[in-house]
Amino acid sequence: MWYKVSIFLTFAVNSWCAQENLVQNPGFESPLSGHWKAVGFSIARSSDAYNGSYALKCTGRFDLSPGINAGDIDVKTHPDYSQAMACVDTLKEKGMIVRAHNLFWGFAKNLPPYVVHMSRDQLNVTVQNHLNYMINITKGKASHWDVINELVHGQWFEEQFHDPDYSQDIFRQVKLLDPKPLLMLNDFNVVARPEIADAYLQQAQTFLAQGVPLDGLGLQGHFHDTVPDPQQILLYLDLMAQAGLPLDVTELDVWQQDPDVRADYYEMVLRVLFSHPAMHGIVLWGFWDQHVVDKRSSLVDGHDLTINAAGKRVFNLIKETWSTHVNMSLSASSTNFDLRGFNGDYEVTVLKNGAKIKVVPFSLFGKETTVNISVDSNIGTLLR
Ligand SMILES: *[C@@H]1O[C@H](CO)[C@@H](O)[C@H](O)[C@H]1NC(C)=O
Ligand SMILES: *[C@@H]1O[C@H](CO)[C@@H](O)[C@H](O)[C@H]1NC(C)=O
Ligand SMILES: *[C@@H]1O[C@H](CO)[C@@H](O)[C@H](O)[C@H]1NC(C)=O
Ligand SMILES: *[C@@H]1O[C@H](CO)[C@@H](O)[C@H](O)[C@H]1NC(C)=O
Ligand SMILES: *[C@@H]1O[C@H](CO)[C@@H](O)[C@H](O)[C@H]1NC(C)=O
Repeated sequence: MWYKVSIFLTFAVNSWCAQENLVQNPGFESPLSGHWKAVGFSIARSSDAYNGSYALKCTGRFDLSPGINAGDIDVKTHPDYSQAMACVDTLKEKGMIVRAHNLFWGFAKNLPPYVVHMSRDQLNVTVQNHLNYMINITKGKASHWDVINELVHGQWFEEQFHDPDYSQDIFRQVKLLDPKPLLMLNDFNVVARPEIADAYLQQAQTFLAQGVPLDGLGLQGHFHDTVPDPQQILLYLDLMAQAGLPLDVTELDVWQQDPDVRADYYEMVLRVLFSHPAMHGIVLWGFWDQHVVDKRSSLVDGHDLTINAAGKRVFNLIKETWSTHVNMSLSASSTNFDLRGFNGDYEVTVLKNGAKIKVVPFSLFGKETTVNISVDSNIGTLLR
């Protein structure tokens, strides 16, 4: 099992709203330009202002589709991701893996409101633009893309277009534009509810049967106010593994008020996840009590970053229990050795009379690996 720090970059709509001036001319104080466009009604700038000097006046509203009594405003500008991408570049320079979440969502509730009432043609163009824009700015930088989030729980695009393969086509397009990231589905309750797990497996198998470039299955892993049952989790992982794809737990959090009990629960969950041969990665949904969905899941607390009991347990598993440290003495007659190690990234340091003469990094993942090291003094090391 590899274990690297993964930084979770959220491209969700919510984060757009947290920033300022993502929409140009938000108060309509400047003349309207191409940034504002009405769908299903007309707009004009008006001096009948709520505050400031101008407002947007909407007239002639009509229904776009039966049962929907509203027009919507089409925001033509994409949010400015230049700061986010500068941050991604910095993280990557520091050798960190950046996983991208998420390009689209399976249900309307989590899509930007302005797309929900679009005509099919407009919607398709908007989808294509978003896809092209996001994959262009992230090209070559993301290790994974959660292409469609929670598709088991909603197939909104399929319904809009009357096309059961709409999401499959999105996967194909992303793969063509950027072959690097692993393209993932990502869903919740898939290691908790049998009917969801079955549906997810079936969805994955359908994708694969149709030759869709699906590279792995994301299991969100929210354990909220439940006592984790490792045996049950193992059964679900076995079921998910039947797709034959790598599994990633993508949003792990365990909610439990008491940090000591939380520590036990994190350990139970992490041990069973880490033990599974199909498990390729585990990403925490958060770890700092100042920036988590629920403080009962935190591993690190306060502005002085105090590691709590749960944090100590998790770090100990990763840094100690699942790390491999070996010292070997070499001689002229013995220049190689074998060892067993946990999956992960390693460094071999060759010392001669206590002085470092060579440092060689290598990775071990899921198969026997041979590392040959030649040093000036003719002492070779063979690790397997
Ligand atoms: C108008 O009011 C909104 C909300 O109260 C405020 O955010 C905005 O800055 C105001 N604009 C002007 C031009 O006063
Ligand atoms: C959406 O647009 C793409 C790219 O232009 C096109 O290939 C596809 O057929 C369109 N799909 C629908 C359902 O209109
Ligand atoms: C792609 O992104 C780069 C910045 O990373 C930008 O300079 C370029 O204009 C973009 N191209 C398109 C077609 O959006
Ligand atoms: C290996 O040697 C280093 C330096 O001599 C020492 O700090 C470390 O504890 C040793 N590790 C093990 C597993 O013996
Ligand atoms: C490492 O050395 C072994 C034994 O000499 C050899 O069989 C193997 O091909 C070498 N591997 C690499 C990657 O150089």
